Amino acid sequence: MVIRVGGEGGEGVISTGDMLAQASARAGLEVLTFRTFPAEIKGGYAMYQLRVSTEKILSQGDTFHVCVVFNGEAYEMNKDLLAPGTVLVYDSPGGDFQPEATEGVIQYPVPMTKISKVDLGSPISKNMVALGAVMQLFSFPVDSLKDLIKAKFKKKGESVVEMNLRALEAGAEYVRSHLKKVDRFYVQPAQPREDRIMLSGNEAIGLGALVAGCRFFSCYPITPATDIANWLSRHLPKVNGVVVQAEDEIASLGQVIGATFAGVKAMTGTSGPGLDLMVELLGFASMAELPLVIADVQRGGPSTGLPTKSEQSDLFLAAKGGHGDFPRIVLAAATIEDCFYLTIEAFNLAERYQIPVILLSDGALASRTEKIKRPDLSKIRIINREAYSGGGEYQRYAVTETGVSPVSIPGQDGGRYIATGLEHSETAAPKYSPDYHEKMTEKRFRKIAALEDESPETECEGDKDGDLGIISWGLTQCAVREAMKECADRGLRVRALYPKLVFPVPVKAIQRFASTVKKVLIPELNYQGQFAELVAVHAGVNAIRFNLYGGLPFTPAQIREKITEVIK
Ligand code: COA
Repeated sequence: MVIRVGGEGGEGVISTGDMLAQASARAGLEVLTFRTFPAEIKGGYAMYQLRVSTEKILSQGDTFHVCVVFNGEAYEMNKDLLAPGTVLVYDSPGGDFQPEATEGVIQYPVPMTKISKVDLGSPISKNMVALGAVMQLFSFPVDSLKDLIKAKFKKKGESVVEMNLRALEAGAEYVRSHLKKVDRFYVQPAQPREDRIMLSGNEAIGLGALVAGCRFFSCYPITPATDIANWLSRHLPKVNGVVVQAEDEIASLGQVIGATFAGVKAMTGTSGPGLDLMVELLGFASMAELPLVIADVQRGGPSTGLPTKSEQSDLFLAAKGGHGDFPRIVLAAATIEDCFYLTIEAFNLAERYQIPVILLSDGALASRTEKIKRPDLSKIRIINREAYSGGGEYQRYAVTETGVSPVSIPGQDGGRYIATGLEHSETAAPKYSPDYHEKMTEKRFRKIAALEDESPETECEGDKDGDLGIISWGLTQCAVREAMKECADRGLRVRALYPKLVFPVPVKAIQRFASTVKKVLIPELNYQGQFAELVAVHAGVNAIRFNLYGGLPFTPAQIREKITEVIK
């Protein structure tokens, strides 16, 4: 079942959706959420979509079964999606609109504004009146919701908790005494599973960093990345780690470079505009061969662009941004599990190759919450940088076969060196001669020459000799996976490849994949077809491009329709 809650930013749409999501999760159901709201703190259309099931959920779905709207604007935004059999819960009498009578659409008017404002004298509790109505209509567990209200509003005072509990009850009572349930939707509790945890994408990145051994995190707050810092600021100090809010993104990456130079695993989190500012120091980290991780939670660009929306348009910047030739690794997360495991992988790669690693996420994944299998920490492999063990003249940048050379930490006996952005010799002394620049550039690139062979195999699914092959990276994978299932049911011969390493482009996997299908399609959330272009240049595979750039993620239906069109 998919429930959508829509209203004005500041009206508590997000709190309402979060509570429904958490109550469903506690009832043992699988949960996946999607939210979208404007960049303003108050005003504009805010939406929260919750999908619950007894089965694993792959994406936010195509549309909703139940739509709860707090105002006329939210109704206008959703009215065209109200299909026969769907349910509309809306604010009436006393609201600011009357819905049209659409055939087959079940309408439940609930006077949310009147009950909260007039009866209870608490306009802010309108959302809790709606929550009570939804709870009663669709059998959400009442005790869970009451606990969640207590937990959510505790910090605002006992009277706020009390008022919201009364609002919840008032909404439920209105339904009991005024409405007759005529729809078929219920939330039926399932067997709760102990091995599940519920996380958002940004929380999962924070948890991954903590598990990977990150003990220093510095950032400048930016939507939609800030929650990584919020999460780490609560949990990193418990393991003697430090979170710093720097004065800007340049300073934050500078601090991360300082920390990693001092031997501490370090990370920053940002979004496109922040990554822009970090580019010069990214080159420095690569030149000085210092391991670090940057989580770039992409939003719509360019410039300040669409701060609260989703795009996959930082790929060129992540892969190629910067002056001069320098290697870096770019990974892309598609799911909450990826956010956790790929953050660990990012640290492992950074440490192993002494290189900056960028992890791409995006706005929708950052705030999406989902139940995932509790990670088994005993099975997680942690890699640490090759350490200088003393003896002989220390050559920080010794030219080795793998390109990787042992690294000391400041103060280590015999391990003194200058981490420099200038071209340098083996002992880190400035050196500008042509042979040194060539030798050292080759050393730096040699480190990741065999990266694809040393990385886990790229996941692939579907028909071996497909009529169509889809290569999908980042969040778009979720819609593709769901569309793949539906295409298989309809007998369409489609194959899909899901790279997590997006730069350097996994050339062998892509060429192998392309040779097994008739045509290749690359859907992505950007105008230029950024991954399609990298694939064409690096792997020589010219894919059909399918680009959306409205700030919203793909739905499975959009992918399914494109697959059908291309195969035809
Ligand atoms: N009683 C008391 N307080 C309530 C309440 C109730 N019944 N329902 C909600 N609230 C409070 C919430 O606790 C929250 O306050 P808090 O932040 O102190 O916890 C606040 O009202 C907003 O409610 P919430 O449900 O979280 O969000 P919303 O649906 O009203 O939407 C946002 C507001 C999220 C859209 C908006 O605040 C926002 O963050 N916009 C994006 C800003 C941004 O990132 N811009 C980009 C800058 S570059």
